[in-house]
Amino acid sequence: MKPKVVISYGFRNEVIEQFKKRLSDIAEVIPLPEWMSSKSLQEIRNAEVLVPLHEFVGEALLEHAPRLKAVSRFGVGYDRVDVEACTRRGVYVTYTPGILSHAVAELTLALMLCLSRRMMEADRYVRTKWAMDGRTMIPLGNDLQGKILGIIGLGRIGLEVARRAKAFNMQVIYYDKLRRLEAEENLGVKYVSLKHLLKTSDFVSLHVPLTPETRHLISERELRMMKKTAYLINTSRGAVVDEKALCRALREGWIAGAGLDVFYEEPVPLDNPLLKMENVILTPHMATHTVETRRLMVATVTEDIRRVLSGEPPLNLVPEQKGKKFHIQDKN
Ligand code: DGY
Repeated sequence: MKPKVVISYGFRNEVIEQFKKRLSDIAEVIPLPEWMSSKSLQEIRNAEVLVPLHEFVGEALLEHAPRLKAVSRFGVGYDRVDVEACTRRGVYVTYTPGILSHAVAELTLALMLCLSRRMMEADRYVRTKWAMDGRTMIPLGNDLQGKILGIIGLGRIGLEVARRAKAFNMQVIYYDKLRRLEAEENLGVKYVSLKHLLKTSDFVSLHVPLTPETRHLISERELRMMKKTAYLINTSRGAVVDEKALCRALREGWIAGAGLDVFYEEPVPLDNPLLKMENVILTPHMATHTVETRRLMVATVTEDIRRVLSGEPPLNLVPEQKGKKFHIQDKN
């Protein structure tokens, strides 16, 4: 019998097909009907690899997965995988760094452009009003050129955002735990304190992983420091921002607006007040959703799965497990 690779119920059919195509010679790919139901737990019991989307993988699930050799995150954020619990059980945790940075950066710039050029409003105007009253028009937008972009977290994705912003002739400042001297030299980005960044940026864009230190990194205090004309862009994780405080900031005009791809609760419940606000643009956690990037992500994840199933350590281990080699044969 072939080893079982169990994948999240949330994947699109074409992605499931790509998984099957790439692994059919060595594994049986089983999409779960849902997460943690009794039927799914039966599949998980026999799984050697688990590919979650945004579901939580912790002790409660690992207890049901005695044969598990790897949890292969389909993405770069692994805040919903308990890496310590996996390490204790000798389970590899892999992810897909690097290959998706440009796609996230492109969506970040798209959100900035939509806000600054009032694209959502403009689209509605053409569909409903333009033919009737061509003189009213919508209010003028703003150039990106010459504006200050404050990047919080100048890692792989933040760096790609900086590159693109520079092509728009924006001034780029950043705050990070570490100074990125090479980027400062090559791209002309400037390191500043978080406070300075918040007080001076026209756009604040978040590119940090969700960790205990970054949870609610942007709360009431930080939002109140931002300029009234500034926009907040979040393509990282919803919980990096205190969403309640953000709603107040948007309602009461502490900031001009927000572009959000990620939320506290996903899918966003229909009664979330953000859904009623005009000064936000919302996208459904889709920063990596391009044909090219999803293909690359499947290729990267399946390459590591092949390695694990043939007894080799995977290439894209999360930093906490770098250099680890588990004796996974014992689990057969
Ligand atoms: C990531 O890469 O973590 C994105 O959120 C997609 O899963």
